[in-house]
Amino acid sequence: MTAQELRQKYLKFFESKGHTIIPSASLIPENDPSVLFTTAGMHPLVPYLMGEQHPGGKRVVNVQKCIRTGDIDDVGDNRHCTFFEMIGNWSFGDYFKKEAIEWSFEFLTDKKNGLGLDPKRLYVTVFKGAEGIPRDEESIAIWKNIFEKAGTKVDVSGEDEIIKNNIKIIPLGAGDNFWIAGATGPCGVNSEMFYDTRPEEGKINGKFSDLVDSGRIIEIWNDVFMEFNKKEDGTIEKLKKHNVDTGMGIERTLAVLNGKENVFETELFKPIFDKIEKLSSKSYKQEAKSFRVIADHIKAATFIISDGVSPLNVGAGYVLRRLIRRAIRYGKQLGIPDRNASQSDAGGEKNFTAEIAKVVVEIYKDYYPELEQNKNRIFEELEKEENKFKKTLISAEKIKNKELQKIYDIIFRATAKEHGLSEKEIDEIKNKAISTEAVPLSASIAFDLETAHGYPSELFFEDLLLKTKNEKLVKESKELLKDKIEKHQELSRTASAGMFKGGLADTSEKTVQYHTVAHLMLAALRHVLGNHVMQKGSNITAERLRFDFSHPDKMTDGQKAEVEKIVNMAIEAHLDVVREEMTLDDARKTNAMGVFDAKYGDKVSVFSIVNDDAIIISREICGGPHVKNTGELGHFKIQKEESSSAGVRRIKAILG
Ligand code: SER
Repeated sequence: MTAQELRQKYLKFFESKGHTIIPSASLIPENDPSVLFTTAGMHPLVPYLMGEQHPGGKRVVNVQKCIRTGDIDDVGDNRHCTFFEMIGNWSFGDYFKKEAIEWSFEFLTDKKNGLGLDPKRLYVTVFKGAEGIPRDEESIAIWKNIFEKAGTKVDVSGEDEIIKNNIKIIPLGAGDNFWIAGATGPCGVNSEMFYDTRPEEGKINGKFSDLVDSGRIIEIWNDVFMEFNKKEDGTIEKLKKHNVDTGMGIERTLAVLNGKENVFETELFKPIFDKIEKLSSKSYKQEAKSFRVIADHIKAATFIISDGVSPLNVGAGYVLRRLIRRAIRYGKQLGIPDRNASQSDAGGEKNFTAEIAKVVVEIYKDYYPELEQNKNRIFEELEKEENKFKKTLISAEKIKNKELQKIYDIIFRATAKEHGLSEKEIDEIKNKAISTEAVPLSASIAFDLETAHGYPSELFFEDLLLKTKNEKLVKESKELLKDKIEKHQELSRTASAGMFKGGLADTSEKTVQYHTVAHLMLAALRHVLGNHVMQKGSNITAERLRFDFSHPDKMTDGQKAEVEKIVNMAIEAHLDVVREEMTLDDARKTNAMGVFDAKYGDKVSVFSIVNDDAIIISREICGGPHVKNTGELGHFKIQKEESSSAGVRRIKAILG
């Protein structure tokens, strides 16, 4: 089965169960300052899990592109990727455990409309109860019933979590079976589905976690039953309506379906590896780790650039920069640029990242047409960053080699100079030199290389290990570097202030207010400046609204004051914010503002703010969420008005 077949099969299956197919949201969360990237399928849907109405209705199904960078050091083993796709079906206050589990089973096992997996090879986990939330007896009963109906005997494992004989259901603790994204927000117990990938090894008999670690059983799907909201003070409240959030990793499921050992053997990687083999004349078998890092990172970078980010030293742009640079460094290790150097007439080295991005675009463009549309910008950004990094590399490598030698000397001297001492005494002296001299020096070199030269610290540490063969030194230096970076960030927080502080729903109240005031402000700007004013972009944090709009000139103080006045009048009038659902065509007919692109799907939400004389103040197509009444907004103030780019102005505004 191909990735595209899997996506289509899933979407169609759930469409037949009354779900609306919605497109993937951007990798860059809109108006959510709590995270840099969309990390799961649920992420763009949080407002709807919290009770907002989705224009697609109560049941939707989507494939969501995701980035998780927490694992950047792990990429290269056989499981981790920074970019992945998550496919899932959603109930917003509609069906719950019974339908979710039954449909999961049907999709997994049905030979015609589903994946045709063997029920005998399926295992499921459920929540065993903790912290005042009881064991999930309901899911256990549903699973038992389903397995029995399918003719499979079923037992539940005990505290030992051992799978043997007829055990199919494994109750686990909160770490495995209670799901929350981040620290706060919608959450609940979950049930995960696993598949036995090596039945030829005979009947399963072993501890659940060992079977997962050895790769014998692999997780393919997660059904989350969201009925709680975790608040900032750590308490849990019941949501007004329960939801279902399910997530299946496309890459992993594809590997399982095609009998591949890991995701890197699927068609989502194979063509990239072929390209790297051509460029480097090395084989994937010889150099698996480098191949995986390059393929994963350039793939992630391709999608991130496509969604509008450029390499920078802060925020999402910084992660992008690290991904590209790490890939280049691994490419260099494979000898890619060097090999091309001899072919290059300019005497310089030929770039390779855009070459790989071309393959990525080919693999994914059918489902993500934006890649094809944005490909020129993607290739240009990669070229630019690769050129920049090469310059950096030359000077950073020199510094690095000199410093590595210094660290090596410290350890070597400590060992050599104490002639005549016992081995134990030498070890003590050596350890002391490592912890008092070598560790601080290594951490500060790594820090300087990274902050002043953009040279990835993990590359330095890899070389440090090669040079010194001392794992303790590397481990402690990494820890010290982490402290240093945290302190540094506290001192110089800029655009990414507060970025990771809380969970998804943390800042929601304030950001919802800014979301609504942006509508009022656009209406006021059009009133004051003219109907040529269109929204060009917006970015919201819990602290402020940043809003770009088309207008050729600097605004006068009088115009700014006028806009403030109109917005504040609308706030003081306590007007209702009314949401309606309609087709995109109808929205267009009623003169709703908005970007008429595919992003919204067939049905759209239109938010209107109407004054007491029935005059429409604002009418916009928008996913929401919004406050119910403008009286909730507080006092509006423009802090700054400046140029953003040619013909586009930028306002920063706050609600006091
Ligand atoms: N939110 C869950 C996950 O990310 C299911 O989609 O695994």
